[in-house]
Amino acid sequence: MADFLLVTDLDQTLLGDDKALIILNEMLEKKRREYDIKIVYCTGRSLELYHQLNREKHLLSPDALMTSVGTEIYFHPIKDNFDLKWANYVSENWDREGVFSVASHFSDLVLQPLSEQTPFKVSYYLSDKIAQEILPRLKADLAKENLETQVIYSASYALDVLPKNGGKGSALQYLREKWKIPVDKTVVCGDSGNDITLFQGEERGIIVANAQWELLQWYYQNKTPFRYLAKQPFAEGILEGLNHFGWITT
Ligand code: GLC
Ligand code: MG
Repeated sequence: MADFLLVTDLDQTLLGDDKALIILNEMLEKKRREYDIKIVYCTGRSLELYHQLNREKHLLSPDALMTSVGTEIYFHPIKDNFDLKWANYVSENWDREGVFSVASHFSDLVLQPLSEQTPFKVSYYLSDKIAQEILPRLKADLAKENLETQVIYSASYALDVLPKNGGKGSALQYLREKWKIPVDKTVVCGDSGNDITLFQGEERGIIVANAQWELLQWYYQNKTPFRYLAKQPFAEGILEGLNHFGWITT
């Protein structure tokens, strides 16, 4: 049983302020020497775009990595440690072609690059000017075809359609159970719509100050002492939140 679990989103949560990232990394490396801490990076990016980021930024080596919005899990060493069991679970009732076919009737949806169309994730760009009109119609059409999916809109531009079993939140629960780490020893951090499911349990949540409106709105509608809205952005906000939950003292 590990002592602590830290699950953090990358773009605009852990990443955004390189100086603060160095300070947080140093603190986590020190903690890792004292305790059995599991560090999990969870991202909307595909594995390909994660590797690109890893070449550009100073990331720690995570114990596990969730890519494509929690639809894929890799364990350390990330290179060839794909979790097939998780993939099997996520793939239940997933009809990727069916999703493409329904979405193709919406001319406002612009397909994202091929690297981001992964086995369990179909992604588009969608302008926020029309998102509130398109999203309910897309959900209704998917339901009409009996396609059980999750439709997730992030940062006023990115639309992901995922299998009903996928997502960062369910991947988090899977890892927490696998490693037997209780909710009060787990901290999750995020900034946008694709992070909302991370915060749906009783894990300690840190929302960075620069969070997108959709996550802020959700936070204000679902307030509990388990979740903390930081005053600082990016890695500095994570440090502030860890301090708030008593993981570190500064
Ligand atoms: C990342 C992914 C993109 C996804 C977005 C939101 O930017 O590359 O495909 O739509 O996250 O989840
Ligand atoms: Mg993010």
